[in-house]
Amino acid sequence: MASSTTGGHYFFLVALSLLSSAAYGQLSEQYYATECLPLDQIIKAEVRSTLVTDGRRMGASLLRLFFHDCFVQGCDASVLLDDDVTKVPAIVSEKNANPNVNSLRGFDVINRIKGKVEASCPGVVSCADILALVTKEAVIALGGQGWPLLLGRRDSTTANKAEANTDLPSPASNLTTLIAAFNKKSFTARELVALSGAHTIGLAQCANVDETQQQRYGCSNANNVLLPLDEQTPNKFDTLYYGNLLLPDNRGLLHSDRVLVNSTDLKNLVVQYASNRNGLFFQDFANAMKKDVGDGRAHRSQWRDQAQLQ
Ligand code: HEM
Ligand SMILES: *[C@@H]1O[C@H](CO)[C@@H](O)[C@H](O)[C@H]1NC(C)=O
Ligand SMILES: *[C@@H]1O[C@H](CO)[C@@H](O)[C@H](O)[C@H]1NC(C)=O
Repeated sequence: MASSTTGGHYFFLVALSLLSSAAYGQLSEQYYATECLPLDQIIKAEVRSTLVTDGRRMGASLLRLFFHDCFVQGCDASVLLDDDVTKVPAIVSEKNANPNVNSLRGFDVINRIKGKVEASCPGVVSCADILALVTKEAVIALGGQGWPLLLGRRDSTTANKAEANTDLPSPASNLTTLIAAFNKKSFTARELVALSGAHTIGLAQCANVDETQQQRYGCSNANNVLLPLDEQTPNKFDTLYYGNLLLPDNRGLLHSDRVLVNSTDLKNLVVQYASNRNGLFFQDFANAMKKDVGDGRAHRSQWRDQAQLQ
């Protein structure tokens, strides 16, 4: 009796570990090498043509879409899910959370590129991986540096609108709040400053902008015009965002940008990033993005656990 119970346990453990390594194999850069050889080529070509047809700002919009995916349940493509009451539990879309509604862009682009990938490799590549790959390619296309991406993540079947509302920081945040919001996702204050460098590209609506800059641009919540986050080169991934924060009249557009120079330590970091000696900003940005602008490795296994429960 005793020995057969032990044997049963042993068999169960071996079966479980085989199952988990076969069906939920290790994440790796080469995850799709055998099942979708043309993946990288498709992503590269599609991102390049998107930036021509939709304009270079779309590269910025895609980067932000990824950030907003990752800060809510991790980088699991949950941001792409629409409202759906037929699902159990019902999906309440993150698209309608306050930081996202009338603001997030790029959903059509991801759908289109997903379609292209499906045409070549049906049912193989997750939406979460496509969003991550597209984001990296967009940053490179706008002049930035890439980072190694571990692929093979599963897509979420649930969304979390409430978490989008609480965990995505408001542009009116002070420095303490920003550091806490990033710490919650296991990012340091240094990584907050590096990732905020994403605001070297793209635009913001006047309503989201710091009062001093609303006055400087003469815009209002009523006309709500779009303003460049980096007023010199909003389509180029460079370090001028940091230079703007150091001007005597701090040209940071959002309040959350401007407060990064309100601590001596972080201001020194801004000075270093502005000069980008030895590519310091590019390197730090890439290293932080490599953590998947979310919760890093710790949560990756959690996403896979969720997938296992499906
Ligand atoms: C530090 C906290 C952050 C706050 C409070 C914040 C807030 C905002 C806001 C309010 C906008 C303008 C949205 C609009 O007016 O429609 C914006 C734009 C943008 N954000 Fe952030 N953001 C933060 C961090 C990040 C991070 C970490 C990334 C990516 C790594 C990012 C990437 C972008 C990009 C690229 C745009 C321009 C999007 C476009 O042109 O469509 N942001 N952000
Ligand atoms: C920062 O903002 C939070 C939330 O609005 C507030 O509770 C806190 O007192 C502020 N901290 C400082 C130092 O202003
Ligand atoms: C940041 O510092 C500037 C000047 O050093 C000051 O005018 C401003 O009130 C500070 N902002 C915050 C949110 O502490």
